[in-house]
Amino acid sequence: MNRAAVICGLGGALPETLVSNADLARELDTSDEWIRSRTGIENRRVIAPGQATSDLAVAAGSRALASAGAAADDVDLVVLATSTPDHPCPATAPAVAQRLGMPGAAAFDVAAVCTGFVYALAAAAAMLTAGTVRQALVIGADTFSTILDPADRTTRAVFGDGAGAVVLRPGDPAEPGALLGFDLGSDGAGSDLITVRAGGSRQRSAGGDAPAEDHWFAMQGRAVFAEAVLSMSKSAQHLIDRIGWAGRGPDRVVAHQANLRILRAVGEQLGLSEEQITVHLDQVGNTVAASIPLALADAQNKGTLTPGQRVLLTGFGGGLTWGSTALIWPSLHLAPAPAHI
Ligand code: UT7
Repeated sequence: MNRAAVICGLGGALPETLVSNADLARELDTSDEWIRSRTGIENRRVIAPGQATSDLAVAAGSRALASAGAAADDVDLVVLATSTPDHPCPATAPAVAQRLGMPGAAAFDVAAVCTGFVYALAAAAAMLTAGTVRQALVIGADTFSTILDPADRTTRAVFGDGAGAVVLRPGDPAEPGALLGFDLGSDGAGSDLITVRAGGSRQRSAGGDAPAEDHWFAMQGRAVFAEAVLSMSKSAQHLIDRIGWAGRGPDRVVAHQANLRILRAVGEQLGLSEEQITVHLDQVGNTVAASIPLALADAQNKGTLTPGQRVLLTGFGGGLTWGSTALIWPSLHLAPAPAHI
């Protein structure tokens, strides 16, 4: 059995509402200059009242299916990477599958925060190459605007909402689009660096006495920054060595879009030029599990990702978690721009 999981479709979705740095500065003690210079972010998008993560996931999933030319009933697995599910229980993926016209598909959520998309790809690829499923839709979707403390100028500046998705089909490991391997890891010793403390079994949402602020997302930015650079660089290098790319290295790295300074540092660690590092966070901020597939869709649209390039994806997030994968970029039919909902 020499099968590989091959990316054959790609799509993204963003909320209509755009929040610029100037918009934030009207509301909070911050400035366009601080946000731009410390993060590289200029705009982010946020969902409207009444919208939820699944709405973005369905829009991105449907774009990816169209890009793959896949019929909904050819796809029998939906994996949704998210840390902002529609409800704490059940998982959001089955509802997404049902709304996309694939009600019998296997469907589950993956909670690995900003590494979620790479973890979800690895899980779907393993099920596909084992022959458990025929084709898979892998979606990264998050709406952190729903869990940010409105008074927290740091996290409000950084995070945005969005969704990105790919379709995987079985194929040959030598063909463009084939996922060539994974490097995955975690370190629970850093589990308190990125948290929503309340609402789980430790600090319960019903009948609990958690302070109100424990229901908001919290991040120790500086410690996370250092870990992000270290983990993504190490994980990417492990994978480069393992798949035999050490000689020439990747042509492009699409890393989790958390901070422009982190992207530059990872590029430096890997000995790459600035042009080889994909930047999308300026327009959408940190979209958590959506960040890598949205950056892929944007780069494909702009023509900076072209067929035949050696592309490495690497992510880092809460948990702490990290993960990388790599592929030769395939020729894809892409819906021209992300759907706006
Ligand atoms: O996606 C998962 C992984 N996440 C990440 O990788 C995030 C990694 N961390 C970061 O990107 C950065 O740490 C942040 C962008 C979150 C913060 O930047 P920083 O340069 O590390 O700032 P800081 O938190 O150390 O704060 C420096 C100063 C503080 O003021 P004082 O105490 O020095 O007076 C903050 O209060 O900057 C202040 N500050 C702000 N000032 C204006 C923090 N946020 C803002 C703001 N506007 N929005």
